[in-house]
Amino acid sequence: MSECEGQQHAHLDTLMQGYSEALAAHGVDGVLLYSGHPARHFGDDQHASFAAYGHFVHWTGQAQLARSWLLVRPGKPPTLYFHAPADFWHLPARLPEEPWVDRFRVEARETSAPPALPPGRFAVLGDVSDGVAQAMGAEANPPGLVAALNELRVSKSDYEVSCLRRANRRAMAGHRAARRVFEGGGAELDIQLAYLGGARQRESELPYPNIVGLNAHGGVLHYQHYDTVAPEKRRSLLLDAGVRHRGYCADITRTWSGPDSAGEFTPLIEGVTSLQQRLIADLAPGVDFAALHRRMHEGLAALLVEQRLVNASTEAVLESGLTRVFCPHGLGHLLGVQVHDVAGLVDANGQPLQPPVEHPALRLTRELMAGMVVTIEPGLYVIPMLLAPHRHRAEVNWKRVERLADHGGIRIEDNVLVTAAGPDVLTPKET
Ligand code: GLY
Ligand code: MN
Repeated sequence: MSECEGQQHAHLDTLMQGYSEALAAHGVDGVLLYSGHPARHFGDDQHASFAAYGHFVHWTGQAQLARSWLLVRPGKPPTLYFHAPADFWHLPARLPEEPWVDRFRVEARETSAPPALPPGRFAVLGDVSDGVAQAMGAEANPPGLVAALNELRVSKSDYEVSCLRRANRRAMAGHRAARRVFEGGGAELDIQLAYLGGARQRESELPYPNIVGLNAHGGVLHYQHYDTVAPEKRRSLLLDAGVRHRGYCADITRTWSGPDSAGEFTPLIEGVTSLQQRLIADLAPGVDFAALHRRMHEGLAALLVEQRLVNASTEAVLESGLTRVFCPHGLGHLLGVQVHDVAGLVDANGQPLQPPVEHPALRLTRELMAGMVVTIEPGLYVIPMLLAPHRHRAEVNWKRVERLADHGGIRIEDNVLVTAAGPDVLTPKET
């Protein structure tokens, strides 16, 4: 058995142990997880792309397996009701020939209807209505149980870390290929296609739609188009692109200067990169992520002053809230079988939390624990609609800001495992 297979067996053992405790604590005999199904376009016979429910993927790694069910009961092998209808229009889904499959009782089925439940108290989790669950004599998505199972996804097993590391390697191969096409003058679509080729993943299987922003598009945080024509001037590329490997997600961002970039832009990229490295160095069990996010704002304030985008003291810039105008998103988030993984915003009792009022986009406010995998992604952008209400501020060097507007913005993002021995950066160094 390979090291990965051995790790996967240990992962499944840990998962069964965690589920057994959570199910007992919530007074249920078992849980039925529904993988989900793709949405059909209204009035059409075509479907949107699909990702299976995170808890289903946590067990199976099968992020594309739709209309399937997994019954988990303590002390019994999980039963995978696997949707594989005889179909000459499509190739029926198949499970890989891997040792983990032997840990499951597998029942191939023609129907996507839920399986009959054995006698007992059950919860059904996933994209199911209360009515469907009630018809089965079960409860749909009880919040306390869902929160307890979410918690099992927070600290990653060795197997999960291996998958995340592997996803990062593949994503970096994509980034390298994409960068070459940017340097060769390609359009956003060319860069995206090169990325997919380098990462060896089709678009519908990615963990999120890649963000390929040339010039001002880099300042649109989740820019969603791929222009087919290259711009005349090549000032910048912001590429935020990931990969799914055995269900696990990479989420990496790089920003590059082009041949037509203003002189101010490259030093700013270097400044954000150096800030990102300092923030990564601070990652350790017990660190409050919201405090680290505030440290990012301190670093951004210092950078704005140092690069003469704002003529004021670092303290005054921080106090004025201007750093939140230049960086309106959070420092990072948990990463796993979902790119923005669950349970980033819960208190010590597992109750949902709101992000801090001043930082509404922060997706992780917990104290860090060994085994968490987080993204660290400071950014600095020129976003006209956010800057507009601040035009009266005399301390802002508007000429410099305007020179940068055509470059959009900068984000540098790596994926990092928190350990007691220090941060373990899963993202390869090159490029
Ligand atoms: N990669 C996109 C995000 O983290 O929002
Ligand atoms: Mn991210």
